[in-house]
Amino acid sequence: MENHFWRMFNPIIPHILGPRHFEKLYRKRKDPWNYQANPFETEKYERTLAALPHGVKQILEVGASEGVFTEMLLKRGLQVTGVDVSLTAIERAKKRLAGYGDQIALLAADITKDEVVGTYDLVLAAEVLYYLGGRDRLIKLRDKFREALRDEGYLLLVHFYPNGKLIHDLFQEEDAFRVVSEHVYPHPERDYLITLLRKLPSSRVSDQR
Ligand SMILES: C[S@@+](CC[C@H](N)C(=O)[O-])C[C@H]1O[C@@H](n2cnc3c(N)ncnc32)[C@H](O)[C@@H]1O
Repeated sequence: MENHFWRMFNPIIPHILGPRHFEKLYRKRKDPWNYQANPFETEKYERTLAALPHGVKQILEVGASEGVFTEMLLKRGLQVTGVDVSLTAIERAKKRLAGYGDQIALLAADITKDEVVGTYDLVLAAEVLYYLGGRDRLIKLRDKFREALRDEGYLLLVHFYPNGKLIHDLFQEEDAFRVVSEHVYPHPERDYLITLLRKLPSSRVSDQR
């Protein structure tokens, strides 16, 4: 599907697939996207791990779901704060990750509305931003992610292609972030895009406003 379709459709999606949709989905069944066993998801997770830059320690994972990928991050010794709008998903993640002690913090929160607490080396948003709205809402999120990041922190974005390109490009506008790496991975299930961005100093952003 081409991006002129997504440009029109993305602003409508949160009205159809909002917080209540996700809570209902998780209550209906565990692991609704089969993250634990689908080889496509496993491959995507491996590639996402491979895209993590060296030196990163504290990660904010947006849309952490039941913690399947979160656990991969924890196994690497990283410190993770996982946020998800579904309380049921967060409760399941808490059970799954109970053995990781203070390496993990899990919060039920709406990233578009609730405040982000803390400062991070990297913000990860995988398969979540296309649920959150069109350009205006994503620009607000871009500012929120910048604020949550330390200087020269990273933003790692993973979304299906081509819609992902529309979203990832928006985060680079106004010199908010610069691209470190970007790859499209063709896949019979769904092509996807992994983009690693780095925060640029605030002065460059405010100079342009
Ligand atoms: C398709 S899943 C992706 C899960 C995970 N990032 C992954 O790739 O394995 C999208 C997740 O985003 C969460 N989500 C949706 N809207 C959200 C919001 N406004 N704030 C926080 N999380 C949200 C959903 O509850 C769901 O768990």
